[in-house]
Amino acid sequence: MSDLPTTMKAVIAVAPGGPEVLELATRPRPSPREGEILVAVEAAGVNRPDVLQRQGVYPPPPGAPDVLGLEVAGKVAALGVGATRYRLGDRVLALVPGGGYAEYCLAHESNALPAPASLTTIEAGGVPETFFTVWTNVFESGGLKTGETLLVHGGTSGIGTTAIALAKAFGAKVIATAGSPEKVAACLRLGADFAIDYRAQDFVAETLRATGEKGADVILDMVGGDYVARNYAAAARRGRIIQIAHLSGPKATLDLRPLMIKRLVHTGSTLRPRSAAEKAIIADALFARVWPLLSEGRCKPVIDSTFPLAEAGKAHARIESSAHIGKIVLTV
Ligand SMILES: NC(=O)c1ccc[n+]([C@@H]2O[C@H](COP(=O)([O-])OP(=O)(O)OC[C@H]3O[C@@H](n4cnc5c(N)ncnc54)[C@H](OP(=O)(O)O)[C@@H]3O)[C@@H](O)[C@H]2O)c1
Repeated sequence: MSDLPTTMKAVIAVAPGGPEVLELATRPRPSPREGEILVAVEAAGVNRPDVLQRQGVYPPPPGAPDVLGLEVAGKVAALGVGATRYRLGDRVLALVPGGGYAEYCLAHESNALPAPASLTTIEAGGVPETFFTVWTNVFESGGLKTGETLLVHGGTSGIGTTAIALAKAFGAKVIATAGSPEKVAACLRLGADFAIDYRAQDFVAETLRATGEKGADVILDMVGGDYVARNYAAAARRGRIIQIAHLSGPKATLDLRPLMIKRLVHTGSTLRPRSAAEKAIIADALFARVWPLLSEGRCKPVIDSTFPLAEAGKAHARIESSAHIGKIVLTV
């Protein structure tokens, strides 16, 4: 480690606010603790939760750095005590509790995975956050099976594009909602069987139409608010509805009868506060079930755009514009 620099460039929010509060600062280079690896970052994915952190409404969990960024790809630059899975120079991607927008980032070795040779480093940098989230919510909590129908809201978001890719790779039918005709076309291009422009069409009626009135078996929702009752209406008997965010608001007024009559399950989760050990279980499942698909090119992250680390503010402005389709990635 002695040949590594003692400081590094990293992006922080100097105060809660808009994209302009993001600044490139000089920070001490972190050193890996027990079980950790130091990644020389080449690509760092941008996620909506980073925007919430910048705005001051989603603080990093205890122990996580104030440097933004939840996912990285790059090369292993140093090993902590007891970190044995990787060797120096290995190409990895990792889910991290913070610190990704930087030249160097710590990851628990169990939350890192070998970067598939089929992916560019930029593609690899856009994998961890959405693949971990979609796997644990759609496949573990939602139990999506081959032949079932997934309804995914925000079909062109980072999460949405990953949900389309994974659900199709596992043989499910996919219905996606999106906010413009262009985004609807993108969902179909990315493999969705059916796509709904929610501004022009009623997604409940369209979902029922697309499923012969049966409804969707699993619904991945990031909208909340009045979508909760509408999701219940769009769900199939014994449907599973998974809440991962509430972009339209955290509160809802509900008629509980459909929940009981259809025997629905409505659950939700957050990824970031989970322990490294909990995230390691997801990483192992991804390696066993999804890495072969990535290696064979049967699914791929969708990259919208890239920005240099120093232009993280522009990347945030783009994600907040909602004009993007897929992942925005910072290059280091
Ligand atoms: N629970 C978890 O563990 C977890 C983990 C990762 C991400 N998330 C959440 O999942 C969501 C997607 O994350 P991401 O990084 O993929 O985000 P993203 O790419 O920015 O996608 C958000 C998309 O949601 C759609 N949208 C619908 N209603 C919206 C509203 N009221 N305001 C803004 N956008 C709205 C927009 O597309 P349209 O133009 O089609 O409306 C937008 O592109 C975020 O809310 C994020 O916080 C949760």
